[in-house]
Parts: sequence; C-alpha cells; structure tokens
Amino acid sequence: MTMPADQTQIEVPFTLNGSEIVVRVEPSERLLDTLRYHLAMTGTKEGCGEGECGACTVNMNGLPVNSCLVPTYQARGAEIETIESVQHGSVHPLHSTGATQCGACTPGVVMSAMWLLKNRDKLDTHTVRELMAGNLCRCTGYDGIVNGVESALGLGSDE
Ligand code: FES
Ligand code: FES
Repeated sequence: MTMPADQTQIEVPFTLNGSEIVVRVEPSERLLDTLRYHLAMTGTKEGCGEGECGACTVNMNGLPVNSCLVPTYQARGAEIETIESVQHGSVHPLHSTGATQCGACTPGVVMSAMWLLKNRDKLDTHTVRELMAGNLCRCTGYDGIVNGVESALGLGSDE
C-alpha cells in the first residue's frame, strides 16, 4: 500500500533571513530545492548540482555551504541566509570591478563574500583568492571578482 505523500514528509523548522519558518519536505529533499521551489528564494542558483561550482552557496549558521549538497533536514534549527538577505550596497565594489558578466555565479560569489566581510580581520589578499576558489565563474577570469571582494574588504591587491 502506498502512503499518502504528506505522511512521508517531515517538518523542518529553521530561520530564513531572520524569520522563523517551518517547511514540510520529503526526507531526501535538497536545501537548494526547498529554497527555490517551496520558498521562492530563486536568487540561489543551481549550476552543477554536485558541489563543484558554488552557484548555490548560502550561509548556514554563518558558514558558506553548497545548498545542493545539504539535505533540508540538516537545516533543522539552523540560521540560513540567502542572497535575498544581502543589503543592497554592502558588496557594491563587486559591481564596479568587472566581477559580474552573465551573473550566473554572482549570488554564490556574494554569499561567500559576505562570510569574508564578516571575517575580514583574519584575512589577507592571499586568503581571499583561496577562499573564493569554491565559486566557479565561466565569464570573468576571476580577477574582477577577487579585486571586487578585496576592495569591499578594504584590502589592497598585491598582484
Ligand atoms: S549547484 Fe551546488 S555547487 Fe554547483
Ligand atoms: S559572471 Fe558569468 S559565470 Fe560568473
């Protein structure tokens, strides 16, 4: 006998961009799909779906994660921040350094940059490039992205 779909679902409470919510999802559902298709947070993009490109980056309890690899149930009780939480202007230098072209990678880049902004006292120009390595971009060649993030951090480029 097949169980009704809603009896296979689980409730997952978490905080999304500062608001407490509860979602009902299949146990195997990815956080990326919950965000995009249940919660209309379509700023978070899917690229590879395999944890390689960083397009789906969101911040979970303050750390950047690939939401395509996170089952939604693991978000139980967590604080999730998506690109929709980012205040316009907080990463303004990314707009003026050639860091965006097609824009497919940009939401993930910005979410990783937000973590860097919160941890700027621990960073130098080398760590910026290393820490942005998980965000792939097919358009810009990365210099614009790294320069924009360094500018937002108040770091001078040493290259
Ligand atoms: S879509 Fe998640 S890392 Fe590429
Ligand atoms: S701007 Fe096109 S993938 Fe990065």
